[in-house]
Amino acid sequence: MRIWAHRGCSQLYPENTITSFKKAMEVPELTGIELDVRISKDGELVVIHDERIDRTTDGFGLVREYTLGELKSFHIHTGKDEAEHIPTMREVLELLRPKLREYIAGKREGDENKGLRLNIELKNGVYPYPGLEQKIVDMVQEFDVQDAVVYSSFYTQSLLRVHELSPYAELGILDGRLSDCLIKAIGCEAIIGDGYKFALHPAGTMIEPDDIFSLEGRTVRAWFGGHLYPEKPTGGKLDVFKYESLGVTDLFLNEPDKYLS
Ligand code: G3P
Ligand code: CA
Repeated sequence: MRIWAHRGCSQLYPENTITSFKKAMEVPELTGIELDVRISKDGELVVIHDERIDRTTDGFGLVREYTLGELKSFHIHTGKDEAEHIPTMREVLELLRPKLREYIAGKREGDENKGLRLNIELKNGVYPYPGLEQKIVDMVQEFDVQDAVVYSSFYTQSLLRVHELSPYAELGILDGRLSDCLIKAIGCEAIIGDGYKFALHPAGTMIEPDDIFSLEGRTVRAWFGGHLYPEKPTGGKLDVFKYESLGVTDLFLNEPDKYLS
């Protein structure tokens, strides 16, 4: 089973922060890191899960209504003296690039266990972020890390746009139920043609044995919300073998270190 850090190591550290990503980089045998991207009022790519900044910072309001400078003025509570700030996508790529390049170099030599991958979730379902796809594809290409990246979204139109811009990009369809991911994938694949196959990114808690039909060897990356910093760790552990036997190939977890170290 391949394990990814969901929003970085987001159980022990604030989600989608440079710290949560640095901690993830230290986890042995981690497959990759997942994060969420949106756009500020002045068109900068920022890494934050919610539409609003209220839950994770000391500010309030919509991400898209603040400039990057304004977003950077808000503090993310870390429980330490020093607060953090909402990272830009550029800052995160600068941090991760060596690991992403290591993955790409390993893959070229036939070894996919080196370095790290990156799953970029495009968060544009509720409010559209015009140009999000173009901006993120351009930046990923600028850093020359496209072969390590998986783009995902609940919003299939966004994935189809990424495919137009970057035909070899790996794409994952998000939804709750596995069957809903699959039906969305089949619809999108009919539009794209050429035998293109999407990976499926269902909610792990919604996977049931009866869901598994006609997966045809697809990559299935299941995500788990779980507890987030500063909530207490659950103390429990997922039954990884159960998910493996259901056809799941990858897990997005807030506590990846618990499964790998
Ligand atoms: O990408 C998997 C997962 O992150 C999707 O849900 O709400 O955690 O972004 P959410
Ligand atoms: Ca996400």
